[in-house]
Amino acid sequence: MAEKEISLNRGLQGIYLDRTNTTFIDGKEGVLEYSGYNIDDLAENSTFEETSYLLMYGRLPNKKQLSEFDSSLKDARVLHQKTYDIIDIVKDSHPMDVLRTAISSISSFDEDRDDFSEEAIIRKGIKLTSQVPIIVMSHNRMRKGLDPIESSKTLSHAANFLYMLEGEKPSEDTAGLMDTDFVVHADHGCNASAFTTRIVTGTNADFYGSITAGIAALSGPSHGGAAEGVMELVKDVGTADNAASHVKNLLANRERVMGFGHRVYKAADPRAKHLKEGVKRLSEEKGETEWYDILLAVQEAMTPYARRGIHANVDFFAGAVYYLLGIPSDLFVPIFAVGRIPGWTIQILEQMRHNILIRPLLQYTGERSKEYISIDNRG
Ligand code: CMC
Repeated sequence: MAEKEISLNRGLQGIYLDRTNTTFIDGKEGVLEYSGYNIDDLAENSTFEETSYLLMYGRLPNKKQLSEFDSSLKDARVLHQKTYDIIDIVKDSHPMDVLRTAISSISSFDEDRDDFSEEAIIRKGIKLTSQVPIIVMSHNRMRKGLDPIESSKTLSHAANFLYMLEGEKPSEDTAGLMDTDFVVHADHGCNASAFTTRIVTGTNADFYGSITAGIAALSGPSHGGAAEGVMELVKDVGTADNAASHVKNLLANRERVMGFGHRVYKAADPRAKHLKEGVKRLSEEKGETEWYDILLAVQEAMTPYARRGIHANVDFFAGAVYYLLGIPSDLFVPIFAVGRIPGWTIQILEQMRHNILIRPLLQYTGERSKEYISIDNRG
């Protein structure tokens, strides 16, 4: 039978799913805006707290609004004891699996789990924005047999995140770099994890279910896992002099160069340069410039591919930032999740505002109308 003529878009490439007022991306020009504000302005002038408010409410806060929002974030820096218990049970798993399980558990302790009002979703978004860093950092301590470091109630979100690593307050510059990292990761349109949160919300499932599913989607190397892959690449390259031949071999074997390419950006990823400057500064400060040199050499070796729209993406320099801050490489993807909670929150809210079940079709190309043969008569 002739196949029915259909328009097939594998990977839903180029398909518009809905309208949004949150994130604008022009992949050809390399432009990213949150609620109308260019990522360059936000990365240079805003903070993660302010950007989170912008994403969740769609406007920049005034001083009073920002101060109240910041207080809500700080007040939410407490994890339920039973979530610590659950982290302890699964502490030998990959941090992304632990994060997924811990977030899932938070819904069990939330008395407002079934409150689907906008206020409740924002309240839960604020709560998870503050608690995801605690889960990630507490697990990192607990798996080494150490007690979690109690959150500071005064430090900024980024500084508190770094403080929970070993109980040392980071310098203003270091906290500022971490803050920029969270700002540039805070949302990115209908990427795989945001789409996943929308699919789950589309069935009228609860907030925590949507976020848990988003975490699972983020964990793969084609999405959030690339920063970890970049540091593997840097280690494999070894020295800047080897970069060109190493990249050539990878490409000859049709392997992916981690931290390059993007489904939407065919021009430079506008987020990458903000972290590139930070890696340069941090590596000079730490006297460890070899990582930065290797990254630059890999970027140089990839220059010919820019013509094909393959540029360094946000994760290319993010891994080096985390490495230089002494963060273990399996925490790189969870850090992406730490920054992305405000983005997922608004994606869920937007989906809820005029909800529709997301249900695409698959074109069936297998055999049809086959005769059922009983198991005794099968060869
Ligand atoms: N290294 C080598 N070749 C590449 C790469 C790369 N990193 N990215 C794309 N290509 C080539 C690919 O081989 C293909 O070539 P050909 O047409 O000859 O077969 C062509 O470019 C198109 O690739 P694609 O996989 O069809 O493009 P896509 O839009 O589906 O891929 C991507 C997007 C992110 C999955 C891909 O670029 C990739 O695997 N990159 C490496 C992983 C990575 O850095 N991921 C982080 C993305 S940014 C963080 C985020 O927002 O999630």
